[in-house]
Amino acid sequence: MIDKRFSVNSLTCCWLLFILYLPACFGDLSYSVPEEMKRESVIGNIAKDLGLDIKHLSSRKARVDTKGSRRRYCDINLNSGDLIVSERIDREALCGQKASCVLNSDLVLANPLELHRISLHIQDINDNSPVFGNDIITLEIGESASKGARFLLDEAHDADIGQNAVQSYTLQRNNHFVLAVHTNPDGGKYSELVLEKELDREEQQAVTLLLTAADGGTPQKTGTVVIHITVLDANDNIPVFSQAVYKVSLPENAPLGTIVVTVSATDADEGANGEVTYAFGRASDEVNKLFSLDRKKGEITLNGLVDFEEETNYEMRVQAKDGAGLASHTKVIIEITDVNDNAPEIFIESLRNPISENVQLGTEVGIINVQDKDSQGNRQVRCSIQQNVPFKLLPSIKDYFSLVTTEELDREIVSDYNITITASDEGTPSLSSTKTVQLSVSDVNDNPPAFDEQSYNAYVTENNKPGSSVVSVKAKDPDWRQNGTIFYSILSGDVSGVPVSSFLSINGDTGVIHAVRSFDYEQFRSFKAQVVARDNGSPPLSSNVTVSVFITDENDNSPQILYPAPLGNSMMTEMVPKAAHAGSLVSKVISVDADSGQNAWLSYQILKSTDPGLFTIGLHSGEIRAQRDISESDTMKQNLIVSVADNGRPSLSTTCTVYLLVSDNLAEVPELKDMNYEEDKSKLTSYLIIALVSVSTFFLTFIILIVSVMFCRRRKPRLLFDGAVAIPSAYFPPNYADVEGAGTLRSSYNYDTYLTTGSRTSDFKFLSSYNDATISSGQTLKRSPNETKAETDFIEAESTCATLVNPFS
Ligand SMILES: *[C@@H]1O[C@H](CO)[C@@H](O)[C@H](O)[C@H]1NC(C)=O
Ligand SMILES: *[C@@H]1O[C@H](CO)[C@@H](O)[C@H](O)[C@H]1NC(C)=O
Ligand SMILES: *[C@@H]1O[C@H](CO)[C@@H](O)[C@H](O)[C@H]1NC(C)=O
Repeated sequence: MIDKRFSVNSLTCCWLLFILYLPACFGDLSYSVPEEMKRESVIGNIAKDLGLDIKHLSSRKARVDTKGSRRRYCDINLNSGDLIVSERIDREALCGQKASCVLNSDLVLANPLELHRISLHIQDINDNSPVFGNDIITLEIGESASKGARFLLDEAHDADIGQNAVQSYTLQRNNHFVLAVHTNPDGGKYSELVLEKELDREEQQAVTLLLTAADGGTPQKTGTVVIHITVLDANDNIPVFSQAVYKVSLPENAPLGTIVVTVSATDADEGANGEVTYAFGRASDEVNKLFSLDRKKGEITLNGLVDFEEETNYEMRVQAKDGAGLASHTKVIIEITDVNDNAPEIFIESLRNPISENVQLGTEVGIINVQDKDSQGNRQVRCSIQQNVPFKLLPSIKDYFSLVTTEELDREIVSDYNITITASDEGTPSLSSTKTVQLSVSDVNDNPPAFDEQSYNAYVTENNKPGSSVVSVKAKDPDWRQNGTIFYSILSGDVSGVPVSSFLSINGDTGVIHAVRSFDYEQFRSFKAQVVARDNGSPPLSSNVTVSVFITDENDNSPQILYPAPLGNSMMTEMVPKAAHAGSLVSKVISVDADSGQNAWLSYQILKSTDPGLFTIGLHSGEIRAQRDISESDTMKQNLIVSVADNGRPSLSTTCTVYLLVSDNLAEVPELKDMNYEEDKSKLTSYLIIALVSVSTFFLTFIILIVSVMFCRRRKPRLLFDGAVAIPSAYFPPNYADVEGAGTLRSSYNYDTYLTTGSRTSDFKFLSSYNDATISSGQTLKRSPNETKAETDFIEAESTCATLVNPFS
């Protein structure tokens, strides 16, 4: 093939060379040879082509002259006459982009000198690939670039020429770009990127594509380059919050500076376009005061105090804005959660104060309302009161409690209550509060006055001064004020028919009882009065007490002589038998004392006598006895002045005269005839006569009665009044037994009482003491049993008589 081309080319070339180099050229040789042939490759046979004998080639010293070029690309094989490649022939190095590349050299022969031009036409082979100027093509395309935008790409170069140069470009398959290939006026090809689909930096910040350039050689060679497209940002994104609504809860009373929530918005844009700042959108003044927003970090910080009880919920809009002013909003809802920060409050809605002490059990005293501002469990309130009061709390409707009584109240025991109400909520920790209610109990007149003692005894000495205080009664009433104010009074009544008010009066306020008059022990010894204490309530309550007044004796009565007649009448003469022996009883002085006790204990004494030594008198008995046997020589008329003294202090005494006539016969006494009764002088005398008559009558009747009784019951002697002397009852002084007035049997009873109440006082005392004295003094008479018996009989009869007669005296 080379040969064939050679022939065609060599002819054309020969003719061309022939015209150009005619004088020097005998015959030109032209060969066409592809570049990059191996050394020793045969290009053509010069000897044959020139018609030279091979044998002459060596002798004629054939050689290829490269015309001054250093490199000798071809040479001649002298043995075969072949033109061979002696050096690597690189068309691109020799001729670059020239369309034809010819290497000229001369074939020089000597003997004779012969010069033949040899033209080597170097043919291109596809030994170079397309090459881009840079390894990487960097493009920056704004994301806002619209469809159809074109971006010129670097051209690829291929050292080869013609078909072996760059013929086409291909772009790696991608979403955004296509390739447009153009031909330069010089025939070179270049390409453009055409944006087919808009870029989004936020989706893809960079696009890397592979561009391949291919030549037209066979085999085809390609070269590639990486296109790196940086997508430039456009502010095409608004900031986007991470949440459409931020809902957070914040405990109330959170400390200042607490970060409540951090809002966060992101802007997909870059740089300033993506720089987000935050600000409150429309927000109330309150929100602005309470919260602050960090414009960079988006932190919402608490600036003031939040109180669940004031506001449970804050809402605000937050704006996020990028550097270019694109903004978006979000909503922040801050819910304040309750903290148990409010203690329950106690309100006394109503109170019955004071409360009457007689209210019924379970009476409602007050209504209490309890409130807690917190919510839920924090506002569940338990309410209680202390244990030791008679009240309790009853839960009522909702937060209301009734305070009711659990016991009956008694103002006199407890008049005031301090009721401490404690309310505590169920929060953790629990908060509680207390309130004290002061409740007073008002009085009801439910206590009657009570006397300190069950009864009062007053001892008053007779002859007291009217108006002197006798005793003081005292009653207490624990009720309040007038319900406890006591007035004393003496209950109307009478003492022996006389109104008690004439004896006693009482100070209504103090209870001091005064004697209205002077009392006389001899008149009555005691009496009773009822004292009433009444309070001033309405209705009033009262109670009464018995006051017993005992009158004590004073020695205010002198002894009174009953016998002999106190008038000292000479008629009252005692007969003394002349034969009376020593110790025989001759007479007896009988006296009484209205006083009692010591004041009535009488003693007898002979003050003066006609014949001292003849008679003695019993110190207490008053018995006058002969001290010795009476003799004829003794004076017939004997007078004794006897003094009777009581034992009071000072002692009171009376004297009397006893006339004794020593005689056996009254007729012997002549003076007696002359004795004149002066009836007018003494009523007693006439009384005595009447009494004696009546006594005799009764006496006789009684003798008969006693005799008949003795017949019936056998005789039992009762020696009640042994040794006593009959006392004519008529001699009793009128006042002696006249306590109740005369004439009824009641008097007899009173008389007994009278006698006994003084215990061992009075005349019985006198009698017994007389008896004692008689025995103890050893003055026992030696009497015959008959005498004694007769005497006892007499005494018994007489004393009975005296007892019975007395009421009629
Ligand atoms: C109740 O409280 C008042 C005032 O604190 C006090 O004066 C009073 O004595 C108290 N009463 C009782 C019954 O405790
Ligand atoms: C006394 O008691 C009555 C009821 O018996 C009552 O109405 C009145 O208020 C009481 N007086 C005083 C001063 O407490
Ligand atoms: C005196 O008190 C008694 C009971 O203590 C009562 O039975 C009597 O009626 C009272 N008398 C008067 C007059 O109040």
